[in-house]
Amino acid sequence: MIETTRLTMTIWTDADLDAVAALNADPEVMRFFPSPLTREESDAAVARWHERLVRTGVGMLCAREKATGAFVGIIGAQWVPYEADFAPAVEIGWRLSPSFWGRGLATEGARAAAEHAFSTAGVERVVAVALPANGPSIAVMRRLGMRDAGFFEHPLLPPGPPHNPHVLHVLEQAAGLPGTLLQGAG
Ligand SMILES: CC(C)(COP(=O)(O)OP(=O)(O)OC[C@H]1O[C@@H](n2cnc3c(N)ncnc32)[C@H](O)[C@@H]1OP(=O)(O)O)[C@@H](O)C(=O)NCCC(=O)NCCS
Repeated sequence: MIETTRLTMTIWTDADLDAVAALNADPEVMRFFPSPLTREESDAAVARWHERLVRTGVGMLCAREKATGAFVGIIGAQWVPYEADFAPAVEIGWRLSPSFWGRGLATEGARAAAEHAFSTAGVERVVAVALPANGPSIAVMRRLGMRDAGFFEHPLLPPGPPHNPHVLHVLEQAAGLPGTLLQGAG
C-alpha cells in the first residue's frame, strides 16, 4: 500500500471492479485512448495490473481519497509492457475520475508511485508516455520534474495520427522529486 497526504493506493479487489469499469467506459476520460473499454476489457485490464503487481512488486494501483474512501482512479508504475528503445524501464501512469481532476491528486499519487519504484524496483529512472495532444497528462509529467525525451512509435497502437507518435518523458532518481509527499510505502 502507498499512502500520500490525500490518497491511498492499493492492490485491486473485486469490490473495485464496478468503479474502475465506469472510469474506463467514460468517453471523456478515454479520449486519448483508442476507445473506451467494455466491462470485459476493463476487468481484463485490472487482472493484468494485479498480476504484474504481484509478479514484479510494481503495478497500476487503485487510488482512493483518504478522507472519504471514494474511488479516485488508477495511478501507479509498471514495467513497460512492450518492446521499445527505452525499455526495459518502469513507466508511471494515471487515469482519474473527472470529479477528481484539478486538485493535484494525479501528481501527488504519481510522485509516490515513482518513489516507490525507485525504492523497490531497482531502477534509477522512470518514464512516462502520452500522446502529444494530451496536455493534462504532459502537465503532470512537467509538475513531477520529468524531462522531455522526444517522440517514439507506441508499438501496441496503430501507426500515424491520432494514435502515434507518443512523447516520452524521463525522471532520473538523482534529479530528485520536487515536493515529496510520500508518507509511507510497503
Ligand atoms: C491526466 C489527468 C490525470 C490529469 O489530471 P489533472 O487533475 O489535470 O492533474 P493533477 O491531479 O495533477 O491536478 C493538477 C491541476 O490541479 C491544480 N491543483 C489544485 N490543487 C493542487 C495541489 N494541491 N497540487 C497540485 N496541483 C493542484 C493544478 O493547478 C492543476 O490545474 P490546471 O490544470 O488548471 O493548472 C486527467 O486529465 C485524466 O485522468 N485524464 C484522462 C486519462 C488520461 O488521459 N490519462 C493519461 C494517459 S497518458
